[in-house]
Amino acid sequence: MSKRFYITTAIDYVNGEPHVGHAYEKVIADVIARAHRSLGAEVLFLTGLDEHGQKVQQTAQARGMNPQVYCDELSLVWKNLAKTLDLTIDDFVRTTEPRHKEVVQAILSKLNNEGHFYKSVYKGYYSTKEETFLTEKDRLPDGTFPAMYGEVTELQEENYYFKLKDQQAWLIDYIEKNPRFIQPDYRRNEVLGFLKNNTLEDLCITRPANRLNWGIPVPFDANFVTYVWFDALVNYISVPAAHGDPTVLAALGRKGNGPELWPADVHDIGKDILKFHAVYWPIMLKAMGLPQPKQLLVHGWWQKDGQKLSKTTGNVVDPFAVINEWGLDAFRFYVVRELAIGPDGNWTDAGFSSRYHAELANGLGNLLNRTLNMLNRYRGGVVPERSDELAAEATKTINETKVLLEQNQLQDALASIWVLVNRANKYVEDTAPFKLAKDPAQAKRLDEVLYNLAESCRILAVLLWPFIPSSATKIYAQLGLEGAPDKIASLAWGGLTAGHKVKEPVPLFPRKDAPAPGTAKTK
Ligand code: MSP
Repeated sequence: MSKRFYITTAIDYVNGEPHVGHAYEKVIADVIARAHRSLGAEVLFLTGLDEHGQKVQQTAQARGMNPQVYCDELSLVWKNLAKTLDLTIDDFVRTTEPRHKEVVQAILSKLNNEGHFYKSVYKGYYSTKEETFLTEKDRLPDGTFPAMYGEVTELQEENYYFKLKDQQAWLIDYIEKNPRFIQPDYRRNEVLGFLKNNTLEDLCITRPANRLNWGIPVPFDANFVTYVWFDALVNYISVPAAHGDPTVLAALGRKGNGPELWPADVHDIGKDILKFHAVYWPIMLKAMGLPQPKQLLVHGWWQKDGQKLSKTTGNVVDPFAVINEWGLDAFRFYVVRELAIGPDGNWTDAGFSSRYHAELANGLGNLLNRTLNMLNRYRGGVVPERSDELAAEATKTINETKVLLEQNQLQDALASIWVLVNRANKYVEDTAPFKLAKDPAQAKRLDEVLYNLAESCRILAVLLWPFIPSSATKIYAQLGLEGAPDKIASLAWGGLTAGHKVKEPVPLFPRKDAPAPGTAKTK
């Protein structure tokens, strides 16, 4: 069996609120998963939820609920997000599932037996909000700790630590020798800068069960549960193990006959969790004897109107509301078209509306609409003889888009596809088929023009399927073609044949007068 293309997202904290940032990350992964399937690969696309930790325990307690029942309830909201975004996920992991917990425990036992851990007493500051220990270095100049840490308490406790001190040199070397491992490059440089200028502290991998019991019990010491990050990162391999992945199972001393998944091809994550993925995760994997993931694809953070998203100030973008109002494809299109994977993005309702109208309604929608209108009006909906006037340009777009998709350059891929959208619309202006139709002597020329337009629309449907799958499928259906336009691998000019019958156009992206998407309707 050949290895599958395996892509993951960060697993969201179950007790958070799904917002545009979470939705964005999942959409990127879905576009990549769909693109690779369309390019011919077998894919496993995984997302899921991070459910352990003190905050979940405390909230469940405050509500008089069992934490598992609380998580089960919240998990429905996130599963609904995945469904609303039409994610083509192959699995959805929850860290409270037995299949996951079992692998975390097996790894802890193995690493403990091999001498990677030691027990030690820590005395210092602790942030419950971030579930992390702080040092004097974390204090602000005025002596307080940054607000992001919430209430900081002083404590003294015994825990297990993972030895990291000897791991720095090989990790630096690995990142330097594998430039694609962390993308974009500036994130890679950030990690290298951190590793070269700091000495790694050993990682505390437990919490005392009497302070926090909503976690995975440490198999060799019942007084402790596993630290959330040690638990959460393991989802990337606990799911392959559950599917029978031979590589992961071999590292656990077991045999597997399932699909080859590990190493992951892409871990799609946000910039804030880069250190966990670029420092701790590689060290954990090396200790387990597993190969490194091929790429950490690090995206930036969305803001709205230049301000941090925040529920307290009401500065939010609710993906459900936007999708409800504008349609899923408009949402998927905007987030990928507006922002490259890397820098931070700024959501503005005016920008959203403007892209919707200019690029989707007037660009793509109008092209399909007038092509089908003219084909129906002038040729009874029947595709004329093949003509290759736009073939070279369309082929160029196909080739460029394929390369960009293979490199996960989604924004550039859309820009490349829009070169063809704009070219085809300009072709209508230049050739003026409505004038040709008035002159019987121009019948052949009109045939040529109509073929080029219809075939361009077909090609656009296939190229756009990973990004806006439902609209792409509608384009296909209106062209009278069956199934989903999901095979870029075999896409070439000339697919429409003479005599094929198209359907009547139905607008894909109706123009809207509503001024703004989202929830900020108070303005
Ligand atoms: N549970 C951890 C991840 C564990 S992965 C083994 C976590 N969860 S989270 O819910 O806080 O964040 C999930 C993802 O959403 C992260 O990749 C994070 O960067 C991303 N985003 C959260 N807010 C965001 C924006 N405003 N914009 C874009 N992405 C953002 O961290």
